[in-house]
Amino acid sequence: MLQRFGLTAEVSRRRFLQGTSALAAAAALDAPAMAQGTVAPNSRPVTLRINGKSHALTLDPRTSLLDALRETLDMTGTKKGCDHGQCGACTVLQDGRRVNSCLTLAMAAEGSEITTIEGLAKNADPKTVDDLSPVQAAFLLHDGYQCGYCTPGQIMSATAVLTEHAKGELSQVSWQSGHSDRPELSDDEIRERMSGNICRCGAYPNIVAAVRAAARGASA
Ligand code: FES
Ligand code: FES
Repeated sequence: MLQRFGLTAEVSRRRFLQGTSALAAAAALDAPAMAQGTVAPNSRPVTLRINGKSHALTLDPRTSLLDALRETLDMTGTKKGCDHGQCGACTVLQDGRRVNSCLTLAMAAEGSEITTIEGLAKNADPKTVDDLSPVQAAFLLHDGYQCGYCTPGQIMSATAVLTEHAKGELSQVSWQSGHSDRPELSDDEIRERMSGNICRCGAYPNIVAAVRAAARGASA
């Protein structure tokens, strides 16, 4: 019995060593290719329009818009949370509509106007609250953040919420509350429309207050 177990262990150990040798060999073969530079063999040119400026890039076609922004363009305002479309940290606007940039291929964003958190303020180097967009200012004034990691995505999403509401677009809550003809931006509406953005710090009450305030400012 013990011998049988010993034999099994030996076979397993041998298979494991063979496997790791194969992996090491593969890694050694890939190493020179990786050392040759950052441009992958299948890279192709793409022009992205971001915050009103065109950027000519050469990217692997599999590159997400999020990675193009952060890794290639060094625009790190947009955050990577889950990288799976579940947290909203990476939200940007594509032609005014919010998208998860981690689920958007950079190539697919060619020809559209991308707006990131860096493009929201009224001037490129904001110095006062007045330089910020209404939603940015409201987050600041209502303490809509703690660590701030989710904040760029929350602000981009809230910016889109105000546009969607102004256009009369409906949410689940609009139907449930009987306001499908003219939805009010109630706290329940705000919570529903912001539900794709997760805050691990739990700053939700202040985020709702900020969006409510920005909505009042926008409609004043
Ligand atoms: S990083 Fe894109 S949704 Fe989480
Ligand atoms: S403020 Fe920390 S995750 Fe939202």
